Amino acid sequence: MKIGIVGAGQVGGTLGVGFAKAGHHVFFGSRDPQTAEMQALLARAGSTAKAESVANAVQFADVVVVALPWPATQSVVQSLDLHGKVVLDCTNPLLPDFSGLEPGTSGGERVADWAAGATVVKVFNTTGFNNMADPAYGGKPAFMPYCGDDAAAKQTAAQLATDLGFEAVDLGSLSHAHLLEAWAMTWIWLAIQGGLGRDFAFQLVRR
Ligand SMILES: NC(=O)c1ccc[n+]([C@@H]2O[C@H](COP(=O)([O-])OP(=O)(O)OC[C@H]3O[C@@H](n4cnc5c(N)ncnc54)[C@H](OP(=O)(O)O)[C@@H]3O)[C@@H](O)[C@H]2O)c1
Repeated sequence: MKIGIVGAGQVGGTLGVGFAKAGHHVFFGSRDPQTAEMQALLARAGSTAKAESVANAVQFADVVVVALPWPATQSVVQSLDLHGKVVLDCTNPLLPDFSGLEPGTSGGERVADWAAGATVVKVFNTTGFNNMADPAYGGKPAFMPYCGDDAAAKQTAAQLATDLGFEAVDLGSLSHAHLLEAWAMTWIWLAIQGGLGRDFAFQLVRR
């Protein structure tokens, strides 16, 4: 797949490296593609990955990962031409002090409103970026829930999560994005206030 990364920080950088190593073509979008941090990210991702302006990364891509800080998400997403793209929304509408989520409509549904002409799937928002680099615990995959309204776009998200080593789990329509965002808040609370740190994840067990 051709994947553009909008917000090549902890989440976007980690996902981009993982996707590149899985054989996908990754274009990191950055406000400054020449930084030492970006060159280090490209070195980790390998020779198929490139860094460009955010607009160029989106133009190149069939799949666009949005991994921006929440306060920047509306203006950046609305500034891009995302028509025909599958958008993977990894953001969480966190309050500035991380104590909770903004009230009201879910972030995933708001991103879908802002991303005119795109098909949005909420995914890669429910666990720490460290787990996106290594989702295995005890030899078993952490699980990665996703939701959206388009079956083909959801299949793309599930395939990419599987490529990284997650167990991808369909959580229904985009109207369930608030469930994924509450899940993220649960992980954050356990990591920080709960004292678990970053090295834990949720797994699915079945009988
Ligand atoms: N950190 C986690 O473990 C984690 C896990 C799940 C979900 N999330 C969610 O994922 C999102 C990203 O989190 P993160 O921790 O990866 O953030 P981060 O490390 O701060 O990276 C965000 C990136 O967005 C870009 N950016 C920032 N402001 C921008 C602007 N105004 N215009 C364009 N680009 C801008 C920056 O890249 P450039 O400077 O290169 O442009 C920055 O590297 C958040 O919504 C967060 O809640 C985070």
